[in-house]
Amino acid sequence: MTKNKIKSSSYLFPRPVVLIGANISGKPNFEPLAYVSSVEDKPPLISIASYETHFTNIGIKENGTFSVNTPSEEIIVGTDYCGIVSGKEADKSEVFDVFYGELKTAPMIIKAPLNLECKVIKTLAIKDITGGEIGHELFIGEIVNAYAEEEYLTEGAPDISKINTFTYAMKQYWKVGKPLAKAWEVGKKLMTD
Ligand SMILES: Cc1cc2nc3c(=O)[nH]c(=O)nc-3n(C[C@H](O)[C@H](O)[C@H](O)COP(=O)(O)O)c2cc1C
Repeated sequence: MTKNKIKSSSYLFPRPVVLIGANISGKPNFEPLAYVSSVEDKPPLISIASYETHFTNIGIKENGTFSVNTPSEEIIVGTDYCGIVSGKEADKSEVFDVFYGELKTAPMIIKAPLNLECKVIKTLAIKDITGGEIGHELFIGEIVNAYAEEEYLTEGAPDISKINTFTYAMKQYWKVGKPLAKAWEVGKKLMTD
């Protein structure tokens, strides 16, 4: 067996893709983001890492709120567009129709099957850790509300087989695959009473 030593990177296969929404001077702006992770369930917390120079970061810091929107294939073009063009150079407020929830300042995408409305509870400047000039800012958000239309739910919870979302790897979007095995179940084969 030969394990090649490859270039170190924060590889994860596949990565999720979400659209982060923030209001800047009262106008919605969105950026796709792959550096996103669940942090805790009770209370529900999620972390996002967005490069410090991004327009979205201004809005997140301005209001202390952001949204996490799970895209479906139907909005893949708008999703990618928001990743090519910064809100600093183009007005992205018309790319998606939006709605607002309880926090009033976290714009959410109507066509995205799943919307998380988040309040920032912690911000970490990663450049301070690495000593770099600029870097990512890590925002941890508490999910104050989650929204989905009935067609994307099974017994009240979001259903991956209905959401028709996609993942990201190797500069490419990928379809979500088929169910493989039951979690917390398949591993029991190795248990001895
Ligand atoms: C698929 C994809 C994933 C991305 N993931 C991230 C990410 O995790 N963090 C980040 O800072 N930028 C990420 N970007 C880049 C931003 O989306 C991009 O720079 C965007 O234009 C910033 O918009 P803004 O300046 O309006 O905020 C990603 C872009 C794409 C297309």
